Amino acid sequence: MTASASAPLPKANFPVRRMDFSFASTQKYWWSGDPFMTHFMNNLSSLFPYGEKFFVDSVRAVRDQVSDPQLQKDISAFIGQEAMHSKEHATYNDYAAEHGIDLERLELRIKVLLEWVTRFTTRKQRLAATCALEHFTATMAEQLLRREDINTQMDDPKMYKLWMWHAIEENEHKAVCYDAYNAIGGGYFIRTGTMLLTTFLFFGVIMTFQVHLMRKDGQLFNWRSWARGLKTLLGPRNGYFPKMIKPYLDYYRPGFHPFDHETKALEKRWKERLGFNG
Ligand SMILES: [Fe+2]
Ligand SMILES: [Fe+2]
Repeated sequence: MTASASAPLPKANFPVRRMDFSFASTQKYWWSGDPFMTHFMNNLSSLFPYGEKFFVDSVRAVRDQVSDPQLQKDISAFIGQEAMHSKEHATYNDYAAEHGIDLERLELRIKVLLEWVTRFTTRKQRLAATCALEHFTATMAEQLLRREDINTQMDDPKMYKLWMWHAIEENEHKAVCYDAYNAIGGGYFIRTGTMLLTTFLFFGVIMTFQVHLMRKDGQLFNWRSWARGLKTLLGPRNGYFPKMIKPYLDYYRPGFHPFDHETKALEKRWKERLGFNG
């Protein structure tokens, strides 16, 4: 057996899938005909174009300090996936604009907020904020993949595919920024302290945006929709967010790693369901 002259370059652990959605035939209230839950998803979508750009910029800023070739490959694939998410969530704005929902205005508020954060933080702190938000997206995505009682409430097949595709990929790449943070010598206190601050900021933003979207749509006093949506999201028995408390708190454990939350079988099931080859 002859030894090869150089070791083969590793492949990334997950692929970059090219998507091209169109929401031309999507109804305004595509989540069970319900304003609150549709606007909750609009709300999340408005965070992605600049939010995901911030994640990409944060990891790109430190990649010259990463020597592991496998992690370098995964960073490239991470950037590819997040760039595709930003692009498709920008297309989402066409659906919103078609129905008189101004998501661009909310996106610009996120842009301003993140520019302000960038001005007052170090590269390591921004990567820690990215790790915190990637933990949020991964645990929210895992919930969405697991909760058939919730994900089947999406009436529109294109929206369903967009959100489930995004949810799979958030789990595929959930450890990349975390591993990069460890590789540049990021420590426990900055990681968890940043998570605490990020949590307040994240919920502050989505609560403000939710009220804004409902008010602009003339739905602010649609109590039935508020009650139904808040039960879906916050209901103590089976709410979406209460089920996330334990995986959220895991992040504060010293030695935590995103792969402690095993989702490979779940991702495989969903990839088959959506007809992805790899
Ligand atoms: Fe994403
Ligand atoms: Fe992500």
